[in-house]
Amino acid sequence: MSTPTRSTPGHTLSLGTPLSPAATRVMLLGSGELGKEVLIALQRLGVETIAVDRYQNAPGQQVAHHSRTITMSDADQLRTLILAERPHLVVPEIEAIATSVLEELEAQGVVRVIPTARAARLTMDREGIRRLAAETLSLPTSPYVFADSLQELQAAIDGKIGYPCIVKPVMSSSGKGQSKIDGPADVQKAWDYAMAGGRVSHGRVIVEGFIDFDYEITLLTVRAVDEQGQITTQFCEPIGHLQVSGDYVESWQPHPMHPQALTQAQAIAKAVTDDLGGQGLFGVELFVKGAQVWFSEVSPRPHDTGLVTLATQVQSEFELHARAILGLPVNTALRTPGASAVIYGGVDAQAMVFDGVAEALRVPNTDLRLFGKPESFVKRRMGVALAFDEQLDVARARAKEAAGKVKPRPV
Ligand SMILES: Nc1ncnc2c1ncn2[C@@H]1O[C@H](COP(=O)(O)OP(=O)(O)OP(=O)(O)O)[C@@H](O)[C@H]1O
Ligand SMILES: [Mg+2]
Repeated sequence: MSTPTRSTPGHTLSLGTPLSPAATRVMLLGSGELGKEVLIALQRLGVETIAVDRYQNAPGQQVAHHSRTITMSDADQLRTLILAERPHLVVPEIEAIATSVLEELEAQGVVRVIPTARAARLTMDREGIRRLAAETLSLPTSPYVFADSLQELQAAIDGKIGYPCIVKPVMSSSGKGQSKIDGPADVQKAWDYAMAGGRVSHGRVIVEGFIDFDYEITLLTVRAVDEQGQITTQFCEPIGHLQVSGDYVESWQPHPMHPQALTQAQAIAKAVTDDLGGQGLFGVELFVKGAQVWFSEVSPRPHDTGLVTLATQVQSEFELHARAILGLPVNTALRTPGASAVIYGGVDAQAMVFDGVAEALRVPNTDLRLFGKPESFVKRRMGVALAFDEQLDVARARAKEAAGKVKPRPV
């Protein structure tokens, strides 16, 4: 049975001159290392950029025309800022945003939100996106239950989920507050850890059955405007990655996949991004075992594991996002296999110095991004090493070697 293709007209913005009445103005909500690269891509097209973050001198603020510092989860502050700036596009780069304000202003026709205000709301916490994927779209996911107390958590494990399982605060990212439970003795600890690590203090968690996957991928999926003015979906090559305590430490592209698993991965990514709608790039996280694929979560924006595309693709995920949101054509082709490896701060300190940069760049076919974050934490991502090579394992080894040579130290 063939399903009729629903045509969705896209928007293409005309590009003007920054800092003039003819400017095309884009506001990034969140200006970390991913936003910084999106801002650079926009700058190259002569877009006037406004970088918003919760603290001053965030990476993206250092490369934008304007910086604004507000609490983006505060509805009044966010509404006041958007109404004062009146950008053509509002581009969320983080999850912790007062998305009700985005929905309100989008409905009033005041701004366009990327990809849509609804997508920003649904992906803001684990419950919205998980219920959409599993219950509305019937996509395969790990078994799950939401729990509001230690008792509910224990009952969910005993009744449905079993051991091993994973507990995560509904509002958290980068593995914060997340832990694996191997048996009854771990439950209390996992609950306490989730309560301490969640973004807001309403103690709700998701408990998920542990998927014993062979590997996990990020499938970068782009909704962009085609020659007919319609939104079509394109996929990048799958990105493989390694997570330690819920945080990405290494990624590589392309990750070899069983053809059936790739087809299934693309079908899942298409279903979820069709539903979220709008224009832009999405990072669809999937678990794979043999030919079987599970949906895990999706970012309606560039994905941290996609930093590797700075070394591997004709257009990085950041350029793809910038083009797609403006309504320009995109090219998702791979240029070369490659890899990325994260550089952590290693200490809590301000105004770090990075030793070993020249040594790192002497590793063949490597590159670096140092994000320029004003303050370092032990586990804060301060930079990334990139490498390319026809052999994936060579690229991975070189990215790790280069990352290892960069030694952050406090002054
Ligand atoms: N149900 C599961 N079974 C097996 N492993 C899992 C499961 N859920 C999460 N993981 C592992 O933990 C990692 C982080 O989980 P998840 O993506 O849900 O958290 P996150 O905090 O949103 O991370 P990030 O913000 O970095 O994407 C996954 O990439 C995967 O390696
Ligand atoms: Mg994730």
